[in-house]
Amino acid sequence: MPNLFDSLTLRGVTLRNRIGMSPMCQYSATSGQANSWHVVHYGSRAIGGAGLVIVEATAVTPQGRISPHDLGLWNDTQVEPLARIVRFVEEHGAVAGVQLAHAGRKGSTRPPWQGGLTASPADGGWEDVIAPSALPFAEGHLVPQALDEAGIRATVRAFADAARRARSAGMQFVELHAAHGYLMHQFLSPLSNQRTDQYGGSFENRVRFVREVARAVRAAWPDKLPLFARLSATDWTEGGWDVGQTVELARLLKDDGVDLIDCSSGGNVAGARILTGPGYQVPFAEEVRRRAGMATAAVGQITDPMQADEIVSGGKADVVLLARELLRDPYWPLHAAQQLQHPTPWPAQYLRAAPKGTPAPKVTP
Ligand SMILES: Cc1cc2nc3c(=O)[nH]c(=O)nc-3n(C[C@H](O)[C@H](O)[C@H](O)COP(=O)(O)O)c2cc1C
Repeated sequence: MPNLFDSLTLRGVTLRNRIGMSPMCQYSATSGQANSWHVVHYGSRAIGGAGLVIVEATAVTPQGRISPHDLGLWNDTQVEPLARIVRFVEEHGAVAGVQLAHAGRKGSTRPPWQGGLTASPADGGWEDVIAPSALPFAEGHLVPQALDEAGIRATVRAFADAARRARSAGMQFVELHAAHGYLMHQFLSPLSNQRTDQYGGSFENRVRFVREVARAVRAAWPDKLPLFARLSATDWTEGGWDVGQTVELARLLKDDGVDLIDCSSGGNVAGARILTGPGYQVPFAEEVRRRAGMATAAVGQITDPMQADEIVSGGKADVVLLARELLRDPYWPLHAAQQLQHPTPWPAQYLRAAPKGTPAPKVTP
């Protein structure tokens, strides 16, 4: 079994190690465009030694943003600011990808530091949110319009167009955001999808939209580059989406050209009782990996180098993603390498502060 610091090749892309930066909305964009905040934020984690950097949920349409301040890839002006991030991340040895997203009924909210509630038009918000069915996420949230078939087709196209733009920006992989109660997850779960057409009802119908998106993106995305999908493995609610369906869907997505399932959970049911704790979602990654026979990423309360190494060397996941711990410590991978006694280069500019014996990087400025 490999360890945390072994490289991993997915299609034509090789990651220097198995540590990734999990996607995290920064609510800091204007008109969907990245700026200096994003360059420094993502660039710091590349300098800090991560193998892959997943750029936050990036909306495929303006209406598909979680907040008015999300990144977007619905027009060409949004490409170059992202390309700047990709170039910097790659110069520092990491691989950059982007999470493509549509918020569906969870769109048009204020940033968490402004309370996270519905954004009014005065806040830059919008009222025409969409979903599989006209069911709000919770009381006080916008009531969405149920998508018609033309709307579904247009949304699938928007994902494919955004993937093409991601490629123009130089992204090395795309992750489809089908988790956390956003549009694709809303289609998957019988708790949010009550359609009676070919997109609702049976398992086969509920997964249809996600599979159409995956196939359209795969067709727009180079064969040599990997495609990921983030799924919420369970709604943590009776009668909702669950692990068995996640495994089934992973098998189908593999046929559709998805290379890795990023295993998260929850987000579709307000007030669901979630049993959290260190590594609480790792068993989902392990089960999908074993039963669907495909690469997985584990995420959620992974903070300790030994814990992360054991996830990989124990065959539970191929990649470990960190979110909040990488906000606390952008240099976590370099510190983990030190703790696990795995000689890893530091940036040349920082070598004088590195522990004795730290190798110099292959490329110096
Ligand atoms: C500030 C913040 C923003 C987040 N934004 C996203 C996002 O854009 N897409 C996503 O799939 N998950 C998002 N998440 C969830 C994280 O990617 C991750 O799955 C979750 O925080 C659990 O990992 P952790 O325990 O290492 O923080 C966000 C989390 C945080 C803390």
